[in-house]
Amino acid sequence: RKKVGVLVSGRGSNLQALLDACADPAFPAEIALVISNVPGVLALERAAAARVATAVIPHRDYPTREAFDAAMDRVLRAAGVEIVCLAGFMRLLSSDFVAGWRGAMLNIHPSLLPLFKGLHTHRQALEAGVKLHGCTVHLVTPDLDDGPILVQAAVPVRDDDDECCLAARVLEQEHRAYPFALRLLAEGRVTVDGNRARIRE
Ligand code: GAR
Repeated sequence: RKKVGVLVSGRGSNLQALLDACADPAFPAEIALVISNVPGVLALERAAAARVATAVIPHRDYPTREAFDAAMDRVLRAAGVEIVCLAGFMRLLSSDFVAGWRGAMLNIHPSLLPLFKGLHTHRQALEAGVKLHGCTVHLVTPDLDDGPILVQAAVPVRDDDDECCLAARVLEQEHRAYPFALRLLAEGRVTVDGNRARIRE
């Protein structure tokens, strides 16, 4: 089983979906470590409840982004992590860190990329008036919310939706898409050709 490190900053519902998937011994990955840049968040409690090692690395303790990322990198490598999953991790990553995990770091983003990068994606979708919205799991490259797409899931936008109920509808799909994408990567079925990720059957 591939060893996974999950980076979190908050609620950790996507972490929970990954923990639940990894609880099946037949799943090709296991979570070795959860790192949070914020102390006291629910994600850390979820990891502890699943008997997964945790580390808190507060970004404010480091003089630069590079120093913070290097600290995370050391902890991930020391734990033997082979794949990094960003799960609601709300910090930009430096290019060195991203380069060090090229082809081995996944992010989940709550929109159908390349639409609606950045924050408040559900508000962005409502303001744009799209009728389909969703989530994307992609390999991380140096640009924010960019990189080869492994999995997307779409949901309808309903006329009476507000940000909250649209977010909830998307989140349900996130919890299915992320374990599925991690499985594909952990099984070594992903090859990258430019912007495109191809998945072997
Ligand atoms: C999720 O909706 C995730 O897609 C999003 O933050 C939420 C975290 O929830 N991520 C981003 O916006 C990254 N740019 P969770 O902590 O319950 O998984």
